[in-house]
Amino acid sequence: MAIDSVTELQNIASTIRTCTLCTLCEGRTNAVPGSGNLKAEIVFIGEGPGKNEDVHGVPFCGASGKLLDQMLLSIGLARDDVFITNIVKCRPPGNRDPLPFEKVVCATTYLDHQLDLINPKLIVTLGRHALNHFIPDLKISEVHGHAQFHNNQHFLPLYHPAVALYNGGMKTTLAEDFLTIPTLLQNLTQTH
Ligand code: URA
Repeated sequence: MAIDSVTELQNIASTIRTCTLCTLCEGRTNAVPGSGNLKAEIVFIGEGPGKNEDVHGVPFCGASGKLLDQMLLSIGLARDDVFITNIVKCRPPGNRDPLPFEKVVCATTYLDHQLDLINPKLIVTLGRHALNHFIPDLKISEVHGHAQFHNNQHFLPLYHPAVALYNGGMKTTLAEDFLTIPTLLQNLTQTH
């Protein structure tokens, strides 16, 4: 009997927690597979776990997560309505950028499979690492807040909340870009 998508996503999460495909496993406390609604219409994708996420095994549970929660609330959504995950599932040491090999091996082994199973209407990328995994040539500064259709999937590129934490202008931009999500989703629902 074929296993359902929720069970398969749970199996992927278990595999991620014991993954040793790259050296990020050596420094982790917990891998962070992702959390939220396994049948979500929207999936948010960040860069990789930070210190708090590594401790708790939950994505976006530190300061940038608080901002993400506020932004979700501004469009009437809660964490349980969406699925939140990252390009790499283990914390890069000292919060350095994930390396190209780490991004490719992790995202093609786990993230792409998670997305196939969730099959969201909209993928919201947070920051350039997530955007460029899917659409390599785009610049976040040029396309943030503008929906993209690529490889038969709708994307909304947004700035990363961590950048907005320390830059008031970016925070305003992120908040404005967030407000485009409900209409975008409504339009996609009519065509999906
Ligand atoms: N930044 C990210 O990109 N992901 C997290 O989960 C937390 C902070």
